[in-house]
Parts: sequence; C-alpha cells; structure tokens
Amino acid sequence: MKWSLSSWKTRKVNQEIFYQDTLHLHKILNTLSSYPPLVSIREITQLKKNIAEASKKNRFIIQAGDCAESFSHCHPQVIAQKVKILFQLATIIANENQKPVTQIGRIAGQYSKPRSKSFEMVNDNKIFSFRGENIHSTEASVATRSPDPKRLERGYFFSSLTLNFIRTLNNSYFNQILQPQSWQLQKPQGIEQRVEEYQNLSKKILTTTSSVIPNGINFLRSKNNFFTSHEGLHLPLEQGFTKKAANNKHYNLSAHTLWLGERTRDISGAHVEYFRGIDNPVGIKIGPSISADELCELIRTLNPLNSCDKIMLIPRLGHSKVINILPKLIESVENKSFNVCWLSDPMHGNTYKTSLGQKTRNLSHITSELRSSIQIHKELGSHLAGVHLELTGENVTECIGGIENLKPEDLQRNYTSLCDPRLNYTQSIEVAYDFSSMLKKTDTRKSFTLKSR
Ligand code: PEP
Ligand code: CO
Repeated sequence: MKWSLSSWKTRKVNQEIFYQDTLHLHKILNTLSSYPPLVSIREITQLKKNIAEASKKNRFIIQAGDCAESFSHCHPQVIAQKVKILFQLATIIANENQKPVTQIGRIAGQYSKPRSKSFEMVNDNKIFSFRGENIHSTEASVATRSPDPKRLERGYFFSSLTLNFIRTLNNSYFNQILQPQSWQLQKPQGIEQRVEEYQNLSKKILTTTSSVIPNGINFLRSKNNFFTSHEGLHLPLEQGFTKKAANNKHYNLSAHTLWLGERTRDISGAHVEYFRGIDNPVGIKIGPSISADELCELIRTLNPLNSCDKIMLIPRLGHSKVINILPKLIESVENKSFNVCWLSDPMHGNTYKTSLGQKTRNLSHITSELRSSIQIHKELGSHLAGVHLELTGENVTECIGGIENLKPEDLQRNYTSLCDPRLNYTQSIEVAYDFSSMLKKTDTRKSFTLKSR
C-alpha cells in the first residue's frame, strides 16, 4: 500500500488522544507545521552513520533521559545536569571499551506518554491518566486533565529552547563541564576510588590533543555527538513536523530519532504506518509478548531495504524473562540477516509497585537484565550495541538499591518523576560502570541454553 503523510489515519490509532475542540487542534497543528524545524537532515544523516557503525560493533549508543519530560525542566541548570550525566556515562563507557559512544537524549520533546490504564480514580473522580505535558497538566482533576491543544505549541517552544541551550553547551561551555571539579561527584562511601577514576579521566579528555582516538574518548569533544529523541506517540503532531526533502524522502524534523512504543507497535496500527514512511532512524520497543515472527514482520515493514542505519531494536523484557525470550528474538533476526542495532532497555520490564503503592525499580534487576542481555548476545555471536535508560542527574529517590542502598521507605524523600522511576545520579554512574565492565569481560561460558533449538 502506498504511504502518504496521512495514510496512518486509515489505521487504528492506539493510545489516541481525544480533543473536544478539533478545530482548535487543527489550527494549532497548522501553525506548528509552519514553524522552523528543530533538527536538520544533515544531523539525522550523521546519526544514521553512527547507528550503522554501532551495528557493526564499532560504536556504542546510550539513549537516556526522563520517562516524561516536564515543561518546568526547561531551565539552564536542569538541562545542563541532564547533558552532563549523559556525557559522563558516555565517557565511562567509551573509556572502558575504547570505542566512541553516541549520546541520544530522551530530551527536547519527550512530552507525550502512552499509559496502560486510560483512567485513574482521584478522590472518587474518574479522570484521565497523565499522558504528558504536551496533552494536559500533571494536576489531578477532571478539568486539568482535559487535553488542551495549546499545550502542543508550548511543547514546541520548550523543545526549541531546550535544544538551543544544549547546542550552546556543546559549542562553548562544555569544556568547563569537563573540569574535574565541576563533575560534582559527591559520592557516598564505597565509590571514592571511582571518583578518582572519573577525575583522572576528565583530565585526560582536557589534555588530549591528538586527532586520532587514543582511547575512545577523544571523539567526545566533537560537537556532533548529541542527538535528541522522543516517543513518536502523538501522530497528528508528528505528521505536522514531517517534511518532504529534496531527495523525496520524508523526515520528522522535531527530533533526530523517534521510537515506537511497546503499546503502539501493532503491525496493522497507525503508528507503524506512520513510522514506515519516515527516513529518520527509529527505535522499536519490544516487550515480552512479542513473537519472533511478529518482530521480523515489523522489521521488514519498517526497513524494507534492510539498511543498516535505520533500526534500533530495544527489548525491555524484564530480568527474569530476558533469558527465555531474547535468544529466540536474536536468532530469528540473525537467521533473516536483518541489519539492526540492538540496545537494551533494562527499565520498563522491571517496574513494580511497593507495598505503599509507589512505582519503583530495583537496581539489581536492572543490572541483571543488562548482564543477561550482554551474555546472550555474546553467546549467539551478535552484538549489544547500546543501552536505553530512564535517569536524571538529580539526587532523586525513585529506584531502590545501589551503593546508597535506597529502600522502599526512602522513596518518599525525593520522588519527582512525572511518570516512571528514574535512576538518580549515583545509580546512573554505577550502571554505566557495571555495563562497561560487563561488556569488556569475555565470558565464554554457555549459560543460556536456547529453548527454541
Ligand atoms: C517509555 O520508554 O517511557 C515507555 C513507555 O516505554 P515502553 O513503550 O517500552 O513501555
Ligand atoms: Co518510561
């Protein structure tokens, strides 16, 4: 079937947002569509090259940020902190593995959310679940949760301000961030030795002058190494941002890459139809219910030419299920010789509620899923090229465990996520170290017997 910018409208729209005033919505969408793009085709093409390199084992990808960004995050310190934590994680991984690392933020537009439950009960009122600040306010009342089209325009402005500041940081001020004293590594006990490691590392970056990559980290000084992403959920909005280029291809110019969520990856649904027509690289979140055949059909639909710079597969299976499910998925993708770049999202399959009803994730489950994924890829001769995390540079208390040994009762202290629980600063650094050292280890034991064989 022929693709067009609006052919997705002929399909079922999962996770649809229903607006009362559709005329108002269309007016806003028209205005947004006339505004300048946020990213360029050249930058998107650069990211595609990076993805192709990562799928050939020559690069890593770290995609990370908030579950749901808030408009109030559009603040210099908050943005700098996010850019910094991502940069630090990339630095750790690059240095340990002697390979360049591409950073993709869940930033500058991650304002729309899918939800498993459309409604929630608050004070005996049934109200819409929070769907992101692009849609409505976080405030829990019937009136404030009504979708408001004006927020889409605010989302565009906040995205462009955020991105502008990121570009400014990367162009000028960034070397100051690299000063060891500004790494702000106020660590609890047990990690001092690592603090010293970071400091030595950042000194090394500042003093590296060679144009070759001596240890995988020199590339980090290049300006073209930070990309943006968000879930491509709100199709009317994504359509508005999508433009036809001189090469006749269509690009979504609101972010360098978009991902297809676990709840919207239905092969016959509207989201897959939209995604198959854009030339940006795309991520596909894969939950435990997917079958190997379904995954292959999805890849074939989204990347019919089997380009090696197009698909990032992002399993989010959970620490206990990954062992049974991931090998079958990898085997079928390898058997078909599909070119993909495998990432691991160790967050979304490991979410649960505490006895007090707060959503959390345990750091040991997160590192366990990562460890299993790395090992399974090694045994099957494929390659885990990156990691997809929900994190923040702030000292929040949302995930439990880690060096600080956060407990369920600590979650009350500083839980500020608008949606899913994020790793805090220390936990993020810890995961980066764990991930890098696990990647480096060449463990050849066969610990995963393939059920499918
Ligand atoms: C997310 O990344 O925040 C998300 C909702 O992921 P998934 O689609 O994998 O559940
Ligand atoms: Co999330």
